[in-house]
Amino acid sequence: MWKKILAGLLIFTGVVTLIACGSVPETMQSQKVDSKVTSSDGKILVVYFSASGNTKRVAETIANQKNAALFAIKPSQSYTEENLNYRNTDSRVMKEHGQPDLRPTYEGDVENWDSYDTVYIGYPLWWQQAPHVVYTFVEHHNFGGKEVIPFCTSSSSPLGTSGTNLAKAAGTGTWQVGIRFSGGVSTTEVLNWLKGK
Ligand SMILES: Cc1cc2nc3c(=O)[nH]c(=O)nc-3n(C[C@H](O)[C@H](O)[C@H](O)COP(=O)(O)O)c2cc1C
Repeated sequence: MWKKILAGLLIFTGVVTLIACGSVPETMQSQKVDSKVTSSDGKILVVYFSASGNTKRVAETIANQKNAALFAIKPSQSYTEENLNYRNTDSRVMKEHGQPDLRPTYEGDVENWDSYDTVYIGYPLWWQQAPHVVYTFVEHHNFGGKEVIPFCTSSSSPLGTSGTNLAKAAGTGTWQVGIRFSGGVSTTEVLNWLKGK
């Protein structure tokens, strides 16, 4: 009986000493590396365009919660309040709306695009669709091997065909249905949606 207890104690002390000396078995070492990769969450990217801040707020909430990288699509010529006035037939947005093939340029680009597995892509609805500059972005990137989750903000229009049309324009990637938030959506509502992601 006492011999068994002594043998047990010796084995226990041996294991403790091995761990304390850093001599961790290989299987445990690889688990350690795996968990590091998952916790850094460097594989998620949130890309968004926002003209008046609503989509930006949602994008930042997603990026914070998911520990993701954030890229703002900033048109080379930014939109002033006057530019955005769709009630004025001469405004910039009204003129651009009449040119469906227009692809405004934007500043900079995503670094290490290939390293991301999941891309959230956010935009305001303009005439029930993503603005032209978001098309510039999706047409210039290869989404192959990536899961893409569109999200938009609007006054009242639903997501509609805005996400599927972007998916068609991209031509690559696994696009989810996505979600529409109201312009004044609360952080809690966005976080609740993210719980299911
Ligand atoms: C040019 C223009 C067109 C818009 N078209 C729609 C629309 O079709 N449906 C809608 O519900 N809201 C529409 N809106 C409202 C925006 O989608 C909404 O305010 C959005 O939250 C703005 O996002 P942002 O602050 O990120 O730019 C439009 C706004 C602008 C400036």
